[in-house]
Amino acid sequence: MAVAGAKNSVLKLMAATLLAEGAYRLGNVPRIVDVDLMAELLRAVGCTVEWDPFDAAALHIDVPAEITPVAPYDIVERFRASVVVLGPMLARCGEATVALPGGDDFGPRPVDMHVRGLTELGARVDVVHGNIEASAAELLAGRVVLEFPSVGATENLLMAAVAAKGTTVIDNAAREPEIYDLCQFLGRMGADISGAGSSTLVVEGAGTARYLRSADHTVVGDRIVAATYLAALGVASGEVFVAGARHEHMELLCAKLAEMGMIITPDADGLRAIAPRRLDSVDCSTLPYPGVATDYKPFLVAMLATASGVGIVTENLFPGRFRYVDELRRMGADIRTDAHHAVVRGVERLSGAPVRAHDIRAGAALAVAGLGADGPTIVTDAHHVARGYEDLAGDLASLGANIRAEQAGSRRGASPPA
Ligand code: EPU
Repeated sequence: MAVAGAKNSVLKLMAATLLAEGAYRLGNVPRIVDVDLMAELLRAVGCTVEWDPFDAAALHIDVPAEITPVAPYDIVERFRASVVVLGPMLARCGEATVALPGGDDFGPRPVDMHVRGLTELGARVDVVHGNIEASAAELLAGRVVLEFPSVGATENLLMAAVAAKGTTVIDNAAREPEIYDLCQFLGRMGADISGAGSSTLVVEGAGTARYLRSADHTVVGDRIVAATYLAALGVASGEVFVAGARHEHMELLCAKLAEMGMIITPDADGLRAIAPRRLDSVDCSTLPYPGVATDYKPFLVAMLATASGVGIVTENLFPGRFRYVDELRRMGADIRTDAHHAVVRGVERLSGAPVRAHDIRAGAALAVAGLGADGPTIVTDAHHVARGYEDLAGDLASLGANIRAEQAGSRRGASPPA
């Protein structure tokens, strides 16, 4: 079992290419729907995006001398990550219009920190007619303190700051491995960024993006996909080797899984994991990196649903991110939610049922939960899952699960290993 490149890195790397004209090659790119959507967005602003004919995981992006810095609503509304084209387009063109992304199935997703940060770098930013319109004759370096270490705001500010004149300090920056990956890529493009991976990023900008050049890069492995496989193992028990998973990127999650009874052994190429017949319950709270990621939470809840004992899960990033709990209850899970807490009392077995995926991780977690259920689980609206997983059903089937993706539409079935 091997993980592909991280969705939440590659989408930002693709956006970063807008900073400079030239030919780029990204390797270890996952074949997922969100990459296709970002490719569509890059094409809409004037780029050429093509998969490598000989390497299924390599993407070529050609950025022309002139781009049209407008991200239209019909593309933006299909994936929220598109908002990260704002910073690079503004840096490159001195102006950018990006349709305002809407809410999400797990709650509101404001962009006020992106807007405030860019304003502090000297841009004029207006939200009019459903668009974020930003302009700046010149971006000015300065110190921006983020109210919260927002992943998207950190990325937009980083990509704008490379074209601001002088030293920009982004404090309380997000520290996710995907942001480290973006800093590495920007470095290859010629940007001078220090502090990557820490909460203080220092960018020495040149007053223009013209000094940047195209570069090649290999996308960091997807820790959330790795967590999905580990959770599947936790529910179904057994042993797996997840190639490409990096322990240092998922340390606290691995510590939680160890508390639950799994044995996780890192080596240079990935993580080996062994899970007992039934896990023990733990409490956990989601926090910005290096805390336990909010994206891991649906998997933890799915594991707790059949673990022994009671676990309390607290969501600190997206308070509305508990919708899948109603679906798990349909499968016989004993879960009570109160505001941003969920109390999960593990039952021996779940009972397979038709359930609905409301977002990528929720859909994957329901499939994982189906591995601990008697009878078939049918996950509808599974098209969400394809936004972030190349072939979840195929991967879980290769681990021994009896699961298949239905050809015709948006349904995926999951049941315990055969
Ligand atoms: N927030 C604001 N104002 C802002 C920006 C964020 O209030 O201007 C709040 C959000 O509402 C949320 C918190 O800050 O409560 C964190 O949001 P953040 O900006 O960090 O999240 P994001 O950049 O929109 C990325 C990932 C998400 C992941 C979060 C948190 C991408 C494309 N998405 O979103 O991943 O859950 O960080 O780690 O990188 C997923 O992959 O399925 C996914 C949703």
